[in-house]
Amino acid sequence: TAAGAARDIRKAVFKKVESFSSAEFNQFSTASLITRSTNDVTQVQMVIFMIMRMVFYAPIIGVGGVIRAIDKSPDMWWIIAVAVVALLSMILIVFLISLPKFRMIQSLIDRLNLVTRENLSGMMVIRAFNKQDDEERRFNKANRDLTDNSLFVARIMVSMMPIMMLLMNGLSVGIIWVGAHQVAASTIQVGDMMAFLQYAMQIVFAFLMMSMLFIFLPRAAVSGGRIADVLDTELVITDPQEPKQFNDPVVSQIEFRNVSFRYPGALDDVLHDISFTARPGETTAFIGSTGCGKSSVVNLIPRFYDVTEGGVYLDGIDIREVKQSDLRELIGYVPQQGMLFSGTIESNLRYADENASAETLREAVDIAQASEFIFDKPEGFEAEIAQSGSNVSGGQKQRLAMARALVKKPPVYIFDDSFSALDFKTDSALRKALKEKTGASTVLIVTQRVATVKNADQIIVLDEGRVVGKGKHRELMQSCETYQEIALSQLSKEELA
Ligand SMILES: Nc1ncnc2c1ncn2[C@@H]1O[C@H](COP(=O)(O)OP(=O)(O)OP(=O)(O)O)[C@@H](O)[C@H]1O
Ligand SMILES: [Mg+2]
Repeated sequence: TAAGAARDIRKAVFKKVESFSSAEFNQFSTASLITRSTNDVTQVQMVIFMIMRMVFYAPIIGVGGVIRAIDKSPDMWWIIAVAVVALLSMILIVFLISLPKFRMIQSLIDRLNLVTRENLSGMMVIRAFNKQDDEERRFNKANRDLTDNSLFVARIMVSMMPIMMLLMNGLSVGIIWVGAHQVAASTIQVGDMMAFLQYAMQIVFAFLMMSMLFIFLPRAAVSGGRIADVLDTELVITDPQEPKQFNDPVVSQIEFRNVSFRYPGALDDVLHDISFTARPGETTAFIGSTGCGKSSVVNLIPRFYDVTEGGVYLDGIDIREVKQSDLRELIGYVPQQGMLFSGTIESNLRYADENASAETLREAVDIAQASEFIFDKPEGFEAEIAQSGSNVSGGQKQRLAMARALVKKPPVYIFDDSFSALDFKTDSALRKALKEKTGASTVLIVTQRVATVKNADQIIVLDEGRVVGKGKHRELMQSCETYQEIALSQLSKEELA
């Protein structure tokens, strides 16, 4: 059925989009992907529905009409032919005019979606800067553009109707005119002529029904094309044909070999010739000024992007040679922008592992220093989390995101600036607990704070996408100028000693 087909299309689109990497997301916008999987699918659904209703009915009465009409009066069929040709060419013209317009309408819906989304999620900022009027104008423009275009197309469609009527009535007049002459010449009976007229009407009516379909067809054609665009997108990051397996148990040693990386579509590399080894049981920290490429380095490990040159090795295997799911199974990742899902605290923690025991959850929140604020709430683990975690503070969100990664108990942890919203006391308590509990795991920490990395086993100092220092705190204080600068700007001489 049409609804069933729509469901299948939506499912296919969603599945495809889930396999998209960041590169493909940048190609389509999120707003456009939403339109494509809702509005566009509905358009297609409508046409499928109409086709199913008419595709059998209309041809039957059409063909039946033709056969009977020719039977009645073989020398008048050309009138019908003329009418049908006129009808078809009209439909063709409408099709050609409206197709580009429909394409525009769908992208205007994208635009409207985008503006609405931005407005709804950026409400606070808009208010803070008193930009309501500007935003309203922006919305009105998007809205008006869409309306104008829709009206234009609607007018064309509507004007089709009287033209059709004209055509039908013209046909009757034509038949009666020609028929009257033939009756006068006694080559046809009045009754036959009237019957012929009826059949002619039936034929044209069948075509009219089809043309109704053609009102919706161009739009569905555009929508179908847009859906196909999504489904046909070539993935940049794919699983290998013959994936390798990690050793069991895995040696969670991560090695970057001469890695250079450039964002898709960017002009310059953001990472240049990066090499380091992060060993199991050790903490490897990345430090550097903002924008120096710390997040870019760690995002290469779960293959959110692929390296441009060089290679990333886990357990001695190039991560491009294993299945993405196998790789990500090993990684507990805490993104720089904490992200929680609507539900409860517990459902968010179980996101990592549905079957995690109560003790595991308890332990994870203890390590993440989140237990205090969780159990301050009367509901505890059952406390509601609003969409994207908007009802917890920034630091609480970070700690929950961290606890979620800890529930997974993976051999590799990646914390991308996960300590930035924590006060120093919580920060150090958390690191201490982390050190004790993560045991043999490989821990990667991204941060801007020297205090956070001081006790790390290995510190990698990044500057403009290059490694400018590697070693322990003491060594770097002696040898690395960039590190000294960062350290001196944050800590007093005594603390550094
Ligand atoms: N998705 C992206 N597309 C294109 N360029 C990007 C993208 N993300 C980051 N960049 C660029 O890459 C560079 C490094 O960014 P990155 O996020 O790795 O910095 P960072 O060290 O994590 O900074 P911060 O400490 O502020 O988080 C920046 O100059 C940024 O402009
Ligand atoms: Mg970052």
